[in-house]
Amino acid sequence: MAIIASNFKTNHTRKSTASFIKEVDEFIVSNKIESEVIVFPTATSFDFIKTQSNLKIGAQNAYPIENGSFTGEIGTQQLDEFNIRTILIGHSERRHILNESQATIAKKYEFYKALGYKIIYCVGEPLEVKQSGLEKTLEYVYSQFDGIDINYENLILAYEPVWAIGTGVTATNDDIEAVHGAIKKRINKPLLYGGSVKVDNVREICSIESVDGALIGTASWVADDFKQILENTK
Ligand code: G3P
Repeated sequence: MAIIASNFKTNHTRKSTASFIKEVDEFIVSNKIESEVIVFPTATSFDFIKTQSNLKIGAQNAYPIENGSFTGEIGTQQLDEFNIRTILIGHSERRHILNESQATIAKKYEFYKALGYKIIYCVGEPLEVKQSGLEKTLEYVYSQFDGIDINYENLILAYEPVWAIGTGVTATNDDIEAVHGAIKKRINKPLLYGGSVKVDNVREICSIESVDGALIGTASWVADDFKQILENTK
């Protein structure tokens, strides 16, 4: 069974999120979608999502705290109100745009692991590392597991090469297999691919043996496209 996740990033309003969730939730039932479907909306939309019995709602980010004085952040007090128990940690945009260090990421991981959250933990190398070859790429990716308990039972991994995120340049099947195969040899956990996954390539990507699903941004933001992605991977 594939795991198909949509990361809204900084897109959608509360209203458009609610209609997206309603449409996709109904589609899952009417089209007998067996994949595990997770949607990561913006935090402002959590309360608009009343019923989503056939998919999970996750948090794109949260601070490792119940509540407190961390301007601009949310903690478990805000997540608990909406029964959010799934979280993205280590996304490349948190690492490379919002400058989250590996230590910060590991602290978040430890905190949400202790609470039993389902964690999608993201790793992936920037272009200059990719250009230095597979050995350097794997060295970089493995360093992103520093301080992370890879045996956590509620862990899902996502390999998202930074140079493929939002660029329209998808990693080739060989690229994906090389890194996924190496990670799988070390860590026996579900492993998603992310980075310019689209309606017309998701079936092939998810058919790669070491790929257990996809973490999708741009191509998943329109409900019809996401439904087609679910149809293509059901
Ligand atoms: O978290 C998924 C995201 O980083 C991939 O973005 O737009 O390349 O599908 P995109």
